[in-house]
Amino acid sequence: MRAVVVSEYGVLPEVRDVPEPSADAGSVVVRVEATGLCRSDWHGWMGHDPDIVLPHVPGHEFAGTIAAVGAGVAGWAVGDRVTTPFICACGQCEQCLEGNQQVCPNQLQPGFNYWGSFAEYVAVPYASVNLVRLPDELTFATAAGLGCRFATSFRAVHQVARVAAGERVAIFGCGGVGLSAVMIAAALGAEVIAIDTNEAALDLARSYGAVHTLTPAAPVVGAINDLGGAHVTIDALGSAEIAQQALESLRPRGRHVQIGLLPTAVTLNAGRLIAQELTWLGSHGMPAHAYPEMLALVATGNLNPAQLVTRTIPLTETPTALTALTTGTPPGVTIITP
Ligand SMILES: NC(=O)c1ccc[n+]([C@@H]2O[C@H](COP(=O)([O-])OP(=O)(O)OC[C@H]3O[C@@H](n4cnc5c(N)ncnc54)[C@H](O)[C@@H]3O)[C@@H](O)[C@H]2O)c1
Ligand SMILES: [Zn+2]
Ligand SMILES: [Zn+2]
Repeated sequence: MRAVVVSEYGVLPEVRDVPEPSADAGSVVVRVEATGLCRSDWHGWMGHDPDIVLPHVPGHEFAGTIAAVGAGVAGWAVGDRVTTPFICACGQCEQCLEGNQQVCPNQLQPGFNYWGSFAEYVAVPYASVNLVRLPDELTFATAAGLGCRFATSFRAVHQVARVAAGERVAIFGCGGVGLSAVMIAAALGAEVIAIDTNEAALDLARSYGAVHTLTPAAPVVGAINDLGGAHVTIDALGSAEIAQQALESLRPRGRHVQIGLLPTAVTLNAGRLIAQELTWLGSHGMPAHAYPEMLALVATGNLNPAQLVTRTIPLTETPTALTALTTGTPPGVTIITP
């Protein structure tokens, strides 16, 4: 099969033939119909993830059809339309049994622990725990984002931050994660403040429901506090500076959610955290069992992730699209069709 192969960190990957994955016991193989280009793929390509072994195939946000079913996988058949959380949980450990598959210590992640979806086929381990059936009306291009960024933002905004109607939510970074968070927070009735360096990303944020938009050229912390401060801040880029600014932008008892990956340690103003009773929360993907509530909101049109897709590219253009993330992000979500 054709796949994007990283042979050296930080060096342009190549598209070449590699062996297809096999449907081992408990796994399925998915024919990839669409896969998203997420900044976490860039982190992996840069060498920020110690789980990656070279040569490596990135890609962890995908939708497709089941091409092969391994032994012991009940209820799934060749041809079923599916996605999976990028965190493929074991289903048997203490965390999984408590419903917290997103922090399963035995998790496997396509595109990180094993070869991912920038390819014609990808394996899904622990398939009965992780497969999510796609409604027929959801296109593969829209559904790909449900494997990582849209679902991650849904959990971060709704289940981790527990955003309520009327709350002010400041979202730093309006790429795939941030724009998804804008759409979801606005649908929950929040007053959304979107922050990005890219005006075109802010235009999209406004169209998805942001009421205020700011660029970091202006004093962001002051502007948010002039509005009364944020009940919730979200770092949807991954930046020590943004994480610090976010804490300074919170109202007393506000909650900060860290989604963006931070390759290095961060210094926080713990004095303010204590005196203002602020909460710092991490958020990691979303387990498969939490998908029905999100899919129901998509079905009723309250959430419209199809709007997020702004660009579709073939596998051959993926290496340059991945490496171009070093200098910036095209507005909206890029989908690859292998
Ligand atoms: N925690 C999780 O489970 C999880 C899941 C998915 C992605 N992530 C991480 O979330 C982060 C965002 O991913 P993405 O794919 O949406 O990224 P992206 O590259 O699509 O978006 C980043 C956005 O930040 C903007 N930006 C750049 N510098 C800025 C600045 N100084 N201030 C404000 N905005 C700025 C860019 O213009 C871009 O719009 C990454 O770190 C990714 O690895 C984490
Ligand atoms: Zn991702
Ligand atoms: Zn587990």
